[in-house]
Amino acid sequence: MTWLITGGAGYIGAHVARAMTGAGERVVVLDDLSAGVPGRLPADVPLVAGSALDAGLLKRVLAEHAVTGVVHLAARKQVAESVAQPTRYYRENVGGLATLLEAVAEAGVRRFLFSSSAAVYGNPDVDLITEDTPCSPVNPYGETKLAGEWLVRAAGEAHGIATTCLRYFNVAGAAEPALADTGVFNIVPMVFDRLTRDEAPRIFGDDYPTPDGTCVRDYIHVADLAEAHLAAARRLTAPDVRGDLTVNIGRGEGVSVRELVTLIGKVTGDPRPALVEGRRPGDAPRAVASAALAARELGWTASRGMREMVASAWRGWQLHHGG
Ligand SMILES: NC(=O)c1ccc[n+]([C@@H]2O[C@H](COP(=O)([O-])OP(=O)(O)OC[C@H]3O[C@@H](n4cnc5c(N)ncnc54)[C@H](O)[C@@H]3O)[C@@H](O)[C@H]2O)c1
Repeated sequence: MTWLITGGAGYIGAHVARAMTGAGERVVVLDDLSAGVPGRLPADVPLVAGSALDAGLLKRVLAEHAVTGVVHLAARKQVAESVAQPTRYYRENVGGLATLLEAVAEAGVRRFLFSSSAAVYGNPDVDLITEDTPCSPVNPYGETKLAGEWLVRAAGEAHGIATTCLRYFNVAGAAEPALADTGVFNIVPMVFDRLTRDEAPRIFGDDYPTPDGTCVRDYIHVADLAEAHLAAARRLTAPDVRGDLTVNIGRGEGVSVRELVTLIGKVTGDPRPALVEGRRPGDAPRAVASAALAARELGWTASRGMREMVASAWRGWQLHHGG
């Protein structure tokens, strides 16, 4: 097998490339470097700089590298930006996927793994989100991921491609500091950013119907997530695999924003009290995965805990931002 990893120079993609090459898989990366960093990649992984929207380039890469499977991570991922620029998100996330699937079908590639997101669920009022929980995304980003899943399954069915959609919950941490997320879009880097500016972390709403009143989420270490990709890729390689598997990737454990901020205070040695502000529109009180299907179908469960996630993310933050 040779796997094409789109978006492989990104935060999660670089961890996937590292995990897959570390396990002996042959990998080539396509990344337009809009957010990717070539230095994140292992030295022996070829990087093609270009876009998943470029049909001619895709055709060449699939042929020249004799690609037999694709892991598609390339996408825009900022919720607020997707609200401001929905056409761009549909064009890049859904249009890019359609272009890639056409190239994949034409090249005869028969294994396809898609980066989906817990954002497909929206705000379900359930204790644990299973894969059967109805999907009702609340922003264009989540809509592009749900439409992407539909497209992946339909193309898989039409062209005999075995497919997997991984719905990631809240990703954090780094396998090594150089691979850390350099963006400030998720809660862990947002709290680090406040502390580095000598400001108190902010909590948006402490009057939710949760044990401490703050929102509860399911955090997953990016190295565990990368291992889930490896398990999913290996499953797709089995000769008799057919159809689609859509599966949550989380730890199945809820952590409140207040608990997370307290842990960050301990890890950074800066335990200043948080400022409580008003709720943000669209935040669900609770979003925690059922991790049972992933355990059953992929033989994978997360092994890294919250402290390791926060401590590794902090080492990465210090490398990239000081603090
Ligand atoms: N980070 C999270 O918490 C999270 C949660 C759920 C799902 N996801 C999904 O995981 C995937 C990777 O996310 P990430 O956090 O690593 O983001 P990232 O921005 O670090 O990585 C995305 C990579 O894709 C590249 N890219 C973007 N558009 C491209 C295009 N048209 N052609 C080629 N390359 C392109 C970027 O340069 C970047 O390297 C995305 O699909 C995202 O929606 C992320």
